[in-house]
Amino acid sequence: MSTYQVPRGTFDILPDESYKWQFVIKVFREIAREFNYKEIVTPIFEKSEIFERSVGESSDIVEKEMYKFEDKKGRVFALRPEGTAPVVRSFIENGLSLKTNSSKLYYLGPMFRYDRPQKGRYRQFYQYGIENIGSTNPFVDAEVIALAYRFLTKLGLKNFALQINSIGCKNCTTDYDDALKEYFNPSLVELCSDCRNRLLKNPKRLLDCKVKSCKAIAQEAPSMLDYLDEDCTANFDKVKEYLTAMEIPFIVNPKIVRGLDYYSQTAFEFIDTNLGAQNTLVGGGRYDTLAEQLGGKNMPGIGFAGGFERLILSMEEEKLSFGLQQVPKVYLVALGTEARIAGLKLIMEMRRMGISTEYDPDKTSMNAQMKMANRTGAEFALILGEDELKNNNIILKDLTKGEQKIIKIPDIIKSIKDK
Ligand code: HAM
Repeated sequence: MSTYQVPRGTFDILPDESYKWQFVIKVFREIAREFNYKEIVTPIFEKSEIFERSVGESSDIVEKEMYKFEDKKGRVFALRPEGTAPVVRSFIENGLSLKTNSSKLYYLGPMFRYDRPQKGRYRQFYQYGIENIGSTNPFVDAEVIALAYRFLTKLGLKNFALQINSIGCKNCTTDYDDALKEYFNPSLVELCSDCRNRLLKNPKRLLDCKVKSCKAIAQEAPSMLDYLDEDCTANFDKVKEYLTAMEIPFIVNPKIVRGLDYYSQTAFEFIDTNLGAQNTLVGGGRYDTLAEQLGGKNMPGIGFAGGFERLILSMEEEKLSFGLQQVPKVYLVALGTEARIAGLKLIMEMRRMGISTEYDPDKTSMNAQMKMANRTGAEFALILGEDELKNNNIILKDLTKGEQKIIKIPDIIKSIKDK
């Protein structure tokens, strides 16, 4: 074992895996563009207060999972556990708005949560996310969900389900929270210690506890949908109507409450129906009071985020393609000192023309260099020996077909470009 290992719950993306990441990132950017979302990049650390005031003191993230630290001047920061609060912070700070054409935003990057690592759950993980800020129109809810759906289907995923819910607004939650307290109180001793705590601070969170005994008790709990006020009901109906119009299949699951405190009304998750415990591919919802919690104006918003790790696991599970591994187009096999120097010049010219080219300065024999050419997966080998050089020739060998021909050196780049 090597002296040092990556920190627990983190991982290296190794060279043979990185093309998968590049592929999913590329597709996400394409889909964001299709829907006219622009990229926003925020720092990976923020004042911890930003998360405490938005994600919420009673959430698992703030209560147990934040990587919090003091800088040299005693300011308290946190490695961002999620992207929504930083985006809204930036939105307020920079006066972004619909007017400045910057209300539809996407982001990509690492997030940090100190949780017990397991398959699909890491301490540093990479999210892709969307935030649409400034509108309460349920059409926007449906469009944001449609974007996630389009992304997952574009990747070819089939084994997933969209679950939606409305968790109402402040107006409806007070009565609902009381109803939940009344329902769960008689079973208090059977609840896990987290849930006992949640019952006081945020009873809705009991509905998505993963502990078996809590899950069983929550089975018959009152449904949020019975407590929605007129506005919230009408909104939820519209979201469902628009999703149906866009032919996006969904299931209403009144137990989706989301683990972050800033949500109201629409909440949704895309669940992988094959993955084990960590099966939420995408989670999102509306957060109409978040901007105010961060000291801004009343500014509604809705968005989602998903983890690339789970996405890639799901794609592997479904045996989907990530495009091709990176291979060089050309491998130069140069024999003798003069050919090697002439070859160097040629390599640089080819690279300037956008042809990816590889060679090995340590291998000298034809055999060893050809072996390397095949190992790299190059499409072509260019063979340059003393004789060829003298006659201004080079051998172009197609490594998949095994055919080869002699070409004049000045014509070689054009020949390869035409292939
Ligand atoms: P979240 O549900 O906490 O929501 O996370 C969203 C997604 O990030 C999860 O569904 C999962 O795919 C991935 N994820 C979360 N934690 C981990 C982890 N420890 N390891 C691997 N993947 C993980 C949010 O973060 C909200 N900011 C989403 C949002 C955006 N809501 C509105 N706008």
